[in-house]
Amino acid sequence: MSAETELHTRGLGVTQRKDAWWLEPLFYQCLFGSFLLYATWAGLHPWGPDGKAYYEYGPYLSPMFSPFFNPDWLKLLPWFMQTPALLILWAPAGFRATCYYYRKAYYRSIFMDPPGCAVGEPCVKYGGETRFFLFQNLHRYFLYVALIFIGILTYDVWLALWWPVNGIDAMNHSVEGPKTLGIGMGTVVMALNAYLLAGYTLGCHAFRHLVGGGLDFLKVKESHPVRFLLWNLVTRLNEKHMQWALLSMLWVGFTDFYIRMCAMGVWQDPHFTLSPMVFSALNDVGHIFGGSN
Ligand code: FES
Repeated sequence: MSAETELHTRGLGVTQRKDAWWLEPLFYQCLFGSFLLYATWAGLHPWGPDGKAYYEYGPYLSPMFSPFFNPDWLKLLPWFMQTPALLILWAPAGFRATCYYYRKAYYRSIFMDPPGCAVGEPCVKYGGETRFFLFQNLHRYFLYVALIFIGILTYDVWLALWWPVNGIDAMNHSVEGPKTLGIGMGTVVMALNAYLLAGYTLGCHAFRHLVGGGLDFLKVKESHPVRFLLWNLVTRLNEKHMQWALLSMLWVGFTDFYIRMCAMGVWQDPHFTLSPMVFSALNDVGHIFGGSN
């Protein structure tokens, strides 16, 4: 009997390895489990019991709710689906669930297929990405949506630089009226989130194929210099795809948590703004030197 057959017949987790092979699957089970629990809870709680928005605080908007839509028809759905996050989270969830790196991680740690090298697994036959798992082939389409989300989240960072002169109301919305330039801890947290998501998305294997696939690499430097440069940049990101994937996932959760804590009044967001007078003076100087009226 071959060693491989022997492991299959002995069943899940059977191995002759003496090291702590189970640590890695356990780590991912805890990490993915905690993130999924938090994301589900946060998605189901966009508002507090007093009606306060927990998905935003003044100019800050949680990435789990961006872009924010709250159409009336949402109220017709069962209670656990009446959240604006429902309209957003399918895209990042689909992108991550079909990502080549995440597939490796959850096939091994959740499906235990196999849980480690030379460790017994529950399935004797590998079915490939067929039947239910055919959806994994949608990854490149989720990539196109993810690229749009990078633009949206970057725009959110821009909006997070504009503070309402009349302050933030009791429901956590910016009060109508003029805005002035400012920066806060939340702006930095949101900017880091957009940066990490861009690093993760632009290092995607499918994006690497998009920019460099189908080229003759013996001649590409001369024939397609721009694509060659892009392919090199994407390759650099791709080499650390796992790190980008995990860090960006954790930071999305933290960004929502930070904005939520500010919205709940648990944390005070340190920020400073240019006073409207200073801002208007700077604007005038800009207009004088810019030559516009
Ligand atoms: Fe990981 Fe595309 S392979 S995001």
